[in-house]
Amino acid sequence: MSTFFNILLRKGINIVKKADIGLIGLAVMGENLVLNMESKGFTVAVHNRTTSRVQDLLEGRGRGKNIIGAFTLDELAASLKTPRIVMLMVKAGQPVDSFIDKLLDVLEPGDIIIDGGNSLYTDTIRRTRLVESKGLLYVGAGVSGGEEGALHGPSIMPGGSSSAWPIVKPILQSIAAHVDGSPCCQWIGPDGSGHYVKMVHNGIEYADMQMIGEAYFLMKNALGMSALEMQETFSCWNKGELDSYLIEITAHILGKIDEDTGKPLLEVIQDVAGQKGTGKWTSQESLDLGVAAPTIAEAVFARIISGAQKQRYLAVEAFPQLSTAPLTDKSAFLDGIRDALYASKICAYAQGFDILRHASLEYDWDLDLGEIAKLWQGGCIIRAQFLQNITDAYNKNPDLPNLLLAPYFQGVLDKSQQNWRRVVAAAVERGLPVPGFSSALAYFDSLRHPQLWTNLVQAQRDYFGAHTYGRTDREGSFHTEWQLPGNVGKSDEV
Ligand code: 6PG
Repeated sequence: MSTFFNILLRKGINIVKKADIGLIGLAVMGENLVLNMESKGFTVAVHNRTTSRVQDLLEGRGRGKNIIGAFTLDELAASLKTPRIVMLMVKAGQPVDSFIDKLLDVLEPGDIIIDGGNSLYTDTIRRTRLVESKGLLYVGAGVSGGEEGALHGPSIMPGGSSSAWPIVKPILQSIAAHVDGSPCCQWIGPDGSGHYVKMVHNGIEYADMQMIGEAYFLMKNALGMSALEMQETFSCWNKGELDSYLIEITAHILGKIDEDTGKPLLEVIQDVAGQKGTGKWTSQESLDLGVAAPTIAEAVFARIISGAQKQRYLAVEAFPQLSTAPLTDKSAFLDGIRDALYASKICAYAQGFDILRHASLEYDWDLDLGEIAKLWQGGCIIRAQFLQNITDAYNKNPDLPNLLLAPYFQGVLDKSQQNWRRVVAAAVERGLPVPGFSSALAYFDSLRHPQLWTNLVQAQRDYFGAHTYGRTDREGSFHTEWQLPGNVGKSDEV
């Protein structure tokens, strides 16, 4: 059927059946989204810059399905119902701009362009303005869940031109994952907010992966556990409060044996982590907003350090490994790692949600944090049982200043902090780096300690730069002539 329509279209013959949505970009994510949409009863028109991929889809996975191949953008526009909806699943950056420019020539006012890639939110703000200025509508939609999610139900975070939402909602919600009957896709807010929320999702994803990596690293290096033992442990943890997609795949990964060597496959994988930039963007954004997100940033730095192979090699040569006393109670230490992982994970999510809370105020987006936690419960990479506790916390108190202060999380941290400290101390003593666990612990302690060292920092700043300081006993800004002789310092109000 699809080929028939293609022939008609190419001959300029008007066809009766038009597509509900067009999708550009037939790499695996795009192709899987097309198949997902088609399986939900939508007819999808497809286009790809390298047009042979269109043919490949029509003759391969899309054979006999309600998919219309479009070999040019004119064909794509002609094959769509109006208002036309075109979703871009192309590489973030210049390719998105280039397709928008071309689409503006073939689409009409009222039509909708959706960008489903990992675009930088500021680009999405700019593009929304451009597309709206031409009378069309623009949606920047974060899509999470990888290839499998795209096929079976991702989590979708759409934002941009709000009048596009009622039109795209039936398609996006029906292809999204569902949890307890609710779609993991809700309108996030104006301009770049959808991509922003996806960016923070990825920042949390970096931290989550980092801390699971540290748990594995301690099991292996402090407890000497085999891959099989670790697999069993992660599978068991996945039945409790740590129940999540990332823990589940970690157990699967630990169980895979390398075909060539017969060793666990993980052992033959280089310890150098790649990145495409969304974790870095989240960290940069936290700095710009003045929100502390050290655990997310540590996860980015940890990937960077892993790639500094020459420095690492030289340091391994320069500094001998530490020899320390073996751990006596292995099972207690393993419980400690679990507690450290859960507590650190809570801190990383608290940091991510704090970024969202501040961004919502700064950009006037009115983000619904409880709803965001809800749509992350299914389909996306950080889906986890405990996101329900986050939803509950924000439903109870939408103005919660920090997630750690919600009674549920307060209880968990109270219960786990002793083990968390023990694990971090034991790791430090053994020269085993745990940047995620330890930075999360420092974040927690910095928040909870009644008096920090920053009075000294303020005094130093005032000493060398007359930057002034506040006093604990009076309002105002003060300066001291620190270098005057004598031990008595005078606070001058400035
Ligand atoms: C998702 C993932 C997805 C992608 C990451 C990988 O939510 O489906 O986050 O967006 O896999 O961008 O990011 P890195 O290559 O930076 O690890």
